[in-house]
Amino acid sequence: MQSELHTTPDAAQTVVIIGTGGTIAGASGSATDNVGYKAGSLSVASLVKAVPALASKALEAEQLAQLDSKDMDHATWARLARRVEQHLARPEVRGVVITHGTDTLEETAYLLQRVLAPSKPVVLTAAMRPATAIQADGPQNLLDAVAVAGAEGVRGVVAVVAGQVWSGLELRKTHSYRLDAFEAGPDAGPLAVVEEGIIRRFRDWPLGEALGATLLPEDSTGWPWVEVLGSHAGADGRALDAWRAAGLQGLVLACTGNGTVHQALEASTAALKQSGVPVWRTTRCAQGRIVGAVDEPAGALSPWAARVELMLHLLQRG
Ligand code: SIN
Repeated sequence: MQSELHTTPDAAQTVVIIGTGGTIAGASGSATDNVGYKAGSLSVASLVKAVPALASKALEAEQLAQLDSKDMDHATWARLARRVEQHLARPEVRGVVITHGTDTLEETAYLLQRVLAPSKPVVLTAAMRPATAIQADGPQNLLDAVAVAGAEGVRGVVAVVAGQVWSGLELRKTHSYRLDAFEAGPDAGPLAVVEEGIIRRFRDWPLGEALGATLLPEDSTGWPWVEVLGSHAGADGRALDAWRAAGLQGLVLACTGNGTVHQALEASTAALKQSGVPVWRTTRCAQGRIVGAVDEPAGALSPWAARVELMLHLLQRG
């Protein structure tokens, strides 16, 4: 998609801002309405223009999508990963900012870190209040995100929200309404904070080996079908049996406590495994990991990050 906004001078410091929608680009008819708005209404160029302190920076803004992130899809992920990879390869680009909805931000962040593992910063940012709200948090979050993306020494995929910098591999949305809606799991804190544009770092930036954006099929139909199922009181295996019959390719169980599964799901889970479908266990607890299960590939991931990881595993297997 076309770049919409270019500000100037110091080309070696260029930060590219890619818009994908979300509440940060949301608009409501009333400034006091924090929930009845339409996400993904305003262009990323207009979000940048609304922050006067960004006017002096070398920025490019481009609109890749305009989604409520509850509707994020695999084809958009593939386009986004490829586009970010292209920008990062430009010597004049210092870093990339992605404006995104908070609802699935952790999934996008996890995916991008695993496929790009960039040596430059890729900073997702978001807002819990629409741009039209009295207490709109998007402008400050965007300003902080640009500061992180332009800073010396930052690398990897991170998220910047409410003055905190989270690892793309760890962050989880843990609150439905508060401005500081994110935490890191399991039992981890923020990587850094941003205070008046200055980054105070506590831990290392995310590292890892890049799987490459070309691993991601451009068409959603090329992605493996992987579902998350919660184990809960009164669980019933019929959904699993139906998914197996329909061709499910991978399952992530959001297990109770330390990775336990309701006995009513055991037979259906065993049948899936017997038919060659990988079944990974995670905990549905907001914090912690599955302790004592060293072979469990997703024991320390949230169910949502584990679903991404399992899809990447299946894509690599071909
Ligand atoms: C969305 O995820 O796109 C809507 C909610 C939000 O951004 O907070």
